[in-house]
Amino acid sequence: MSHFSPRVFSGMQPTGNLHLGNYLGAMLNWIAMQETHECIYCVVDMHAITVWQDPKELRRAIVDVTAAYLACGLDPKKSIIFNQSQVAEHAELAWILNCVARMGWLNRMTQFKEKAGKDKEAASVGLFVYPTLMAADILGYHATHVPVGEDQKQHLELARDIAVKFNNDYAEAIAAAGINDGVFFPSPEPFITGPATRVMSLRDGTKKMSKSDPSDLSRLNLIDDADTIAKKIRKAKTDPEPLPTEKAGLKGRPEAENLTGIYAALAGESVEKVLGQYGGGQFSVFKNALADLAVAKLAPIGAEIKRMQHDDRAHVEKVLADGSARARAIAAPILRKTRELVGFVLS
Ligand code: TYM
Repeated sequence: MSHFSPRVFSGMQPTGNLHLGNYLGAMLNWIAMQETHECIYCVVDMHAITVWQDPKELRRAIVDVTAAYLACGLDPKKSIIFNQSQVAEHAELAWILNCVARMGWLNRMTQFKEKAGKDKEAASVGLFVYPTLMAADILGYHATHVPVGEDQKQHLELARDIAVKFNNDYAEAIAAAGINDGVFFPSPEPFITGPATRVMSLRDGTKKMSKSDPSDLSRLNLIDDADTIAKKIRKAKTDPEPLPTEKAGLKGRPEAENLTGIYAALAGESVEKVLGQYGGGQFSVFKNALADLAVAKLAPIGAEIKRMQHDDRAHVEKVLADGSARARAIAAPILRKTRELVGFVLS
């Protein structure tokens, strides 16, 4: 039996605007889990600077992403909401975990390869060790559940490997400290679930929806207004066939699969049910319904983000300050113990 009580941790980078992929892949689960679990949601500003950020833009993005968290329905009374840089324990633990993780493990990370591109020599060292900071985010709270989109799966597996290796490397110290089952860091469970764990570009169903896509038509941003949302859905790439009536018929049709997944996630229904309703019919009919649904679900979030950006900045800053203090109160004793286990505390 594990001696850890369930605790949720997850985060998003404050670089650019949040988009539908962030919302459907992660945020919907974050919102649901705050009703049933102790939850810690982070704005990972230290991860953001693995690629250079203009300080003015970064400050703005931290506030904007926090405003988006709140507008989506995260409740600071239920969840801890804070920005990573304000809790120094993340950086300290990341260093220790850098010394536990192996070069070979990090060399296998596909996201580094994608983000570093052709010129790996020019990538920051931070970008390479990005996943160990992510492991520190999670392990530093003894988090047990991590709701994320599909693209973070490999990083989560790495965090689990690091937890196991730390427990092995320091097994003697852990036993001497009286931790009976020898587990100081629990292995966090990825929580990747729902009909849209990997939302694809609206312009190309084989590419992930992302902030870095040069085409704004490729994604729905959470701050888009109703007209923009409807326009982007109308312009979304499709194929000439009508929608299939069965899920198997989506195979090899990435755009149809993506749009039905988006519809299902926004409606809180299964893909089967969506196909039951729209399968066999014209794509244009489905697209109109999807545009209406997306506007109904997303436009109010966008309006609320804008309201907070203009009128409620002080509230957003207060949420982060309170959240940072609460996060620190959880991480500090775990780091104190970690320092002891590693051998930094002399008596
Ligand atoms: P980030 O900021 O890239 O994305 C935030 C969350 O959104 C999910 N996501 C998607 N889900 C489905 N379809 C998409 N197209 C899509 N794009 C993004 C991501 O999977 C993620 O859940 N390394 C993380 C942030 C992080 C973190 C952590 C997460 C730092 N520390 C600790 C969990 C626990 C990242 O860059 O996410």
